[in-house]
Amino acid sequence: MSSHITRLGLISAMHQEQAGLIEIMQDTEKSHRGMRDYVSGKLWGIDTVCVLSRMGKVAAAATAATLIERFGVTHILFTGVAGAAENELRVGDIVVADALVQHDMNTMPLFPQYEVPLLGLSHFSSDKSLTDRLAQAAADFVTHDAADMISEEDRASFQLASPRVFRGLIASGDEFVHRQERRDALKAAFPPLLALEMEGAAVAQVCFEFGVPFAVIRTISDSANESAPLDFMQFIERVASRYAFGVVKRLCVQG
Ligand code: ADE
Repeated sequence: MSSHITRLGLISAMHQEQAGLIEIMQDTEKSHRGMRDYVSGKLWGIDTVCVLSRMGKVAAAATAATLIERFGVTHILFTGVAGAAENELRVGDIVVADALVQHDMNTMPLFPQYEVPLLGLSHFSSDKSLTDRLAQAAADFVTHDAADMISEEDRASFQLASPRVFRGLIASGDEFVHRQERRDALKAAFPPLLALEMEGAAVAQVCFEFGVPFAVIRTISDSANESAPLDFMQFIERVASRYAFGVVKRLCVQG
């Protein structure tokens, strides 16, 4: 896999997870395909195509395939928020995926649970080189930038004193997890699981099938329990875009 990013595809599910990046892109050109706006241009000198996929695996897969086939991206980065699946994780921590799995894939008894039929795989590994660079960018963001980029009021109300960066397994499914019992069941199904979201593993499968290196970064917005809906809405409105902007800036500038 090439570690040089010739053309980056940058996907987020929702506007609040990417806000600010499109606005500072240079030499932009917008095209509308399949109900999505693809904005091409330069992001800190890197040729980039930004797009909002909307929520869920189908939406994310269609968007990733369009980025690859129509816009010729050489790498894909998904940035957004996730629910914590591990007790140690707190709102504001960052998870960088080493691997992703579709927790709602189940064609038993035809194939083993979680395995993508006819692909013979359940877990998709992210690109090591891009993921290493992303984890470094995230670590630099939390150490050097987060305090300046997030207001004191928001840091206090979300208790973002010292966010940490974790690496590991993320699970995706067409489900907003908002019950402790469900979250515990998913954690029991995948003991190393760190975070739950709704798109990453779909992008991972498309990138695997097309041979395109990809990485996924998620900021924890909630604990995938009964308070998740409110925590999620507040976090994406007030904080999520600051993380995405800061980490992507570090990634592009550090090269
Ligand atoms: N994205 C952010 N929080 C989530 C949750 N609790 N479940 C699924 N996706 C999420």
